[in-house]
Amino acid sequence: MDLLTELESLIPELQKGLDQASSLQDMEALRVDFLGRRGRLARIMAHLPEAEPAARPLLGQTANKVKDGLVGLFEQRKTALEKAAEAEELARFDAGLPGRTPQIGSLHPITLVTEEICSVFRQLGYSVVSGPEVETEYHNFEALNIPREHPARDMQDTLYVSDGVLLRTHTSPLQVRTMLSQKPPVAVVAPGRVYRRDSDITHTPMFHQVEGLLVDKHVTMADLRGTLTAFMRSVFGSDTKIRFRPSFFPFTEPSAEADISCCMCGGKGHDHDGTVCRVCKGTGWLEILGCGMVDPAVFEAVGYDPEAYTGFAFGLGVERIAMLKYGIGDLRMFFENDMRFLTQFA
Ligand code: DAH
Repeated sequence: MDLLTELESLIPELQKGLDQASSLQDMEALRVDFLGRRGRLARIMAHLPEAEPAARPLLGQTANKVKDGLVGLFEQRKTALEKAAEAEELARFDAGLPGRTPQIGSLHPITLVTEEICSVFRQLGYSVVSGPEVETEYHNFEALNIPREHPARDMQDTLYVSDGVLLRTHTSPLQVRTMLSQKPPVAVVAPGRVYRRDSDITHTPMFHQVEGLLVDKHVTMADLRGTLTAFMRSVFGSDTKIRFRPSFFPFTEPSAEADISCCMCGGKGHDHDGTVCRVCKGTGWLEILGCGMVDPAVFEAVGYDPEAYTGFAFGLGVERIAMLKYGIGDLRMFFENDMRFLTQFA
């Protein structure tokens, strides 16, 4: 066979090889065989110097054309193989399958309820403030008109860090801190953790409270009642009724405890078939918070003029509100971090 025929035969031979190639590996073997440094094309070209000088230009041109042809054939076949692989993948792909949902965390119910409470008061024009969990006896007790001999100061209840320093037993020291740093009028709510030496089924050594304080000229008990009614209706529904019972707190005078109509039985005390409501135990009412008019002694402690200003304060337990709102029967659920419980609030 002369060189020209040999060169021209490379194209159909490669075509035949490619037709049989079914993978990219087969293709690579063919490429080495035809176009490699010691491949067929190179071997033929090695004989070029032996050809007649007159025949060489044609041989050279043909060699170039054949080389381009070979490369073109490879490209074509490679594209075809890639397309086939893609088509195969698409055939396996089921667009009807549900996607993989990434696991996204959710807010803890205590966080949710705290946020809801603060958001109601924000809409009423209150600011949200916070303060230290490690407090002084002065802010936690003294300035709040809780004298040394008061039972609330008992070592039984209070966790002391050192002499005169303790873990706050309520969020009420935020009343003191706010008034010491701000001139009246003030309107604040203060959410946060509080600590008591108490642990049983209905008490945990750490729990959450929200404190509220409003001070201005001419604030009355009617303002307290209106504000707390609006708040309770926003959290528990617009039919919620509210009632006040006289109570005692050293930092308010007069003091009251507020009850709301039971959010389980709607205040009836029983369900439709007459079974006594297990949430309010048949009374139709739920104790929800402590409140009152700020005691003049507290104003004096923070340097507010008790003749010029009046105010109201309230404090509530977040766990209790969350339990009532979501119908949770066991306080411990909030602290066990059981995912089956927590994911229900997503
Ligand atoms: N600090 C009280 C407690 O921990 C709750 C409380 C009652 C707060 C009456 C107040 C209030 O601001 O006026 O039990």
